[in-house]
Amino acid sequence: MPDFAIGESEFLLDGKPFQILSGALHYFRIHPDQWADRIEKARLMGLNTIETYVPWNAHSPRRGVFDTTGMLDLELFLRRVAEAGLHAIVRPGPYICAEWDNGGLPSWLFRQPGVGVRRYEPQYLAAVGEYFSEVLRIVRPLQVDQGGPVLLLQVENEYGAFGNDSTYLKWLVELFRAQGITVPLVTVDQPEDAMLTAGGIDGVLRTGSFGSRSVERLATLRAHQPTGPLMCMEFWDGWFDHWGGPHHTTSAAEAAAELDALLSTGASVNIYMVHGGTNFGLTNGANDKGVYRPTVTSYDYDAPVDEAGRLTAKFHAFREVIARHAPVPPLPEFDVQPPVPEFSATLGEPIRLLDRPDSWGAWRAHEDLPSLDDLDAQFALYRTQLDLDGPVVLQLDEVRDRAHVFLDGDPIGVLSREDHDRAITLPRGRGRLDLIVEDQGRVNYGSRIGEAKGLIGPLQVGTSTPSAWQTLAIDLDAVPELWRTTLQSTAGVGPTAYRAAFTIEEPTDLFLRTDAWGKGFAWINGFCLGRYWRRGPQHTLYIPGPALRAGTNELVVLELDTLADTTARFTPTAELGPTEL
Ligand code: GLA
Repeated sequence: MPDFAIGESEFLLDGKPFQILSGALHYFRIHPDQWADRIEKARLMGLNTIETYVPWNAHSPRRGVFDTTGMLDLELFLRRVAEAGLHAIVRPGPYICAEWDNGGLPSWLFRQPGVGVRRYEPQYLAAVGEYFSEVLRIVRPLQVDQGGPVLLLQVENEYGAFGNDSTYLKWLVELFRAQGITVPLVTVDQPEDAMLTAGGIDGVLRTGSFGSRSVERLATLRAHQPTGPLMCMEFWDGWFDHWGGPHHTTSAAEAAAELDALLSTGASVNIYMVHGGTNFGLTNGANDKGVYRPTVTSYDYDAPVDEAGRLTAKFHAFREVIARHAPVPPLPEFDVQPPVPEFSATLGEPIRLLDRPDSWGAWRAHEDLPSLDDLDAQFALYRTQLDLDGPVVLQLDEVRDRAHVFLDGDPIGVLSREDHDRAITLPRGRGRLDLIVEDQGRVNYGSRIGEAKGLIGPLQVGTSTPSAWQTLAIDLDAVPELWRTTLQSTAGVGPTAYRAAFTIEEPTDLFLRTDAWGKGFAWINGFCLGRYWRRGPQHTLYIPGPALRAGTNELVVLELDTLADTTARFTPTAELGPTEL
């Protein structure tokens, strides 16, 4: 069986020096029917390894569940990597950051009183133990010394930027070993002394995360890792975007020159990302350094292979650089697909949430205001009756993250966490108060990870604190099914679902233009493309070809604000937005 080890100054594969040329590809951000294509393109760029994180919360939406179907089939993904003749690196967290909802930590973890995440705390460790036994059961037989592709596993993620509990880190290492992980382990930290000190573990190889000044950063890493190979575990070749911010790009020539400088030192690399993919569904994370900034749906990352799998100028520039350091396979002529002409469909058959809420979910009664976590929902309707002399002010501590406010069905306004909204005036103090609340993605970095979502109280109207709440948790996966059971409404105010049918001859990648719509979610044949928002920067949603079929297809849109145009436009090109604002 092959053998992979850490030598005095290099990685050793079967005893011979081996420079890892890896690229990050997240299986959970790519339609499974496109895994092989994206892996093949990474190989053609000259890479010999594919790296992926494992998102605990996606696999375990509830404790005791470990879903490995469809886009979560880690084993199949690793087999696809092996079939392409490549090696693999697995980074199972438990925390992964990755601009992913909650940095991959399940939200149920935080609901246990007294739990202490990312440290040596019994409740947390017990949950990590359950998770690792599932994920390592998949990875164990796929290690290189058992004939599989996996060369390395990473322990935690940039731990030095978060804590300094070395007992916890050592416990994780022991857990990997007890679960039969025999390949080398690594940690990753930003190349700063304090972080490398707090995040490192004796006997485990330290690696760095950076996208510039590589030679200087490797020197810092070397000071903390006196022997063994040097590796940049995250060579940032692009960046992610927030709603309301610019679209980030980097110069292909400058990124390639930096890669050349890094590889010229003999260091190993994991290019973050070789292909970014998409935050399908409601999986995006967010940042909050005083202002909440949710991450957009596209995770294109300005990577060498773009969101739709196309080779960019950065791909060719990187391939040229890699060819100076290692053999690179010949680049085949790709079949050029005939350009898909733009076409459109008309959205109709509206179903208004406030018209017949009962068909969107089941009502529950509460004496105290529940959080979205209590409801196990990312989107919900909160209702109570007011009986006050008005006008009155509604106020609360924080809205996480956005609430549309209605009084007797009339729209009053929106409370937005991003704008630090905490209060809104109701023109009357009497009537049916509805708040439609959206969790826009959990923070994935820093201190606000894991916080509860929803209306964070106390919620007051005038001088009173309404009790007697009714809630309706809305299962967004079920929205495309609404038409089976629900009569259509007349279009009107408030969140409304629409649908359109359209016909194509052959499934092919497409983009859906969303600029004429407000804010909401879109599905193709039940597959959730993610969130759209008029404020941009992105104004298209990526539709992976395998989500389409030859013949009739169905588009469903749930618009929360205002749909200014019922035309749905499909185009062959992405519009990810302006790079400067
Ligand atoms: C850090 C994290 C990654 C990712 C990048 C930014 O390096 O380790 O998970 O969040 O930042 O894209």
